Amino acid sequence: MEKIKANLILGDCREKLRELSDNSIDLIFTSPPYADSRAETYGGIRPDKYVEWFLPITRELLRVLKPDGTFVLNIKEKVVNGERHTYVIELILEMRRQGWLWTEEYIWHKKNSYPGKWPNRFRDSWERLLQFNKNRKFNMYQDEVMVPMGDWADRRLKNLSETDKVRDPSKVGSGFGKRIANWIGREKAYPNNVLHLATETKNKNHSAVFPEDLPEWFIKLFTKECDWVLDPFMGSGTTCRVAQRMNRNSIGIEILPEYYQLAQVDIVPVSEFHSVQLTLLENKGDYGSTKSK
Ligand SMILES: C[S@@+](CC[C@H](N)C(=O)[O-])C[C@H]1O[C@@H](n2cnc3c(N)ncnc32)[C@H](O)[C@@H]1O
Repeated sequence: MEKIKANLILGDCREKLRELSDNSIDLIFTSPPYADSRAETYGGIRPDKYVEWFLPITRELLRVLKPDGTFVLNIKEKVVNGERHTYVIELILEMRRQGWLWTEEYIWHKKNSYPGKWPNRFRDSWERLLQFNKNRKFNMYQDEVMVPMGDWADRRLKNLSETDKVRDPSKVGSGFGKRIANWIGREKAYPNNVLHLATETKNKNHSAVFPEDLPEWFIKLFTKECDWVLDPFMGSGTTCRVAQRMNRNSIGIEILPEYYQLAQVDIVPVSEFHSVQLTLLENKGDYGSTKSK
């Protein structure tokens, strides 16, 4: 029976990534320190220096990712002097020059973001999940994240028009087409690219923990059991913990000993492969719903 490994590394990912083999990782899922925003906890990087700081890391990530693997980057630009800084946009452009394809962008809608009042904007309730790949063809297991059809099907499929019964070619000439009637009698549909998840509320002794459902969804979508998942900014170890629970091997790198120790509490270096019955996020009533908790 296969063993599942979790390799937790204490150190700076700018150095430690060099020790990983070429083309060895199936999914990189990470949330790096945001520009300056958490300076008091683990040292922020000035927004103007962010791209310069990050590019050597993305070069290493490009090297270690398998040709059919995926890199998902959870990031959000901060407001500097009253406007959104452009470092994320600049980073995307530079990563494309580095050889990455910017394949997709998912949105994490934070269902429970706290209310507030600002003179020139509303509360920030979403973050980007930028998807990058090395190739246009990559592993993607779409059936693993299907969602119940729900009310939409009842409403939409009740009164089908003539167009709904035939293949309706895309108006933008993409060559894609849809036939709404195909969905009659089906219980599940493919999700869209917005994930409605509450932020982590459990006290994990880390100031920037993301909810377990976030890596879980992408691990389901882009990996299968025994694949390798990497989080170069591991923090409290959420990505690796979820990967282990889902029978994926993982590598996590964390620069601060206190967070590294936090991750070690419930992640074991080698675990038995076990049979997991994963519930879809939607079954928890979370992912598909835009209602606040
Ligand atoms: C946004 S937090 C990640 C939180 C994590 N997703 C979780 O759920 O706990 C970013 C983490 O990257 C770590 N970090 C910052 N610079 C690093 C570096 N050069 N190498 C490795 N880790 C680093 C920070 O100490 C912090 O724990």
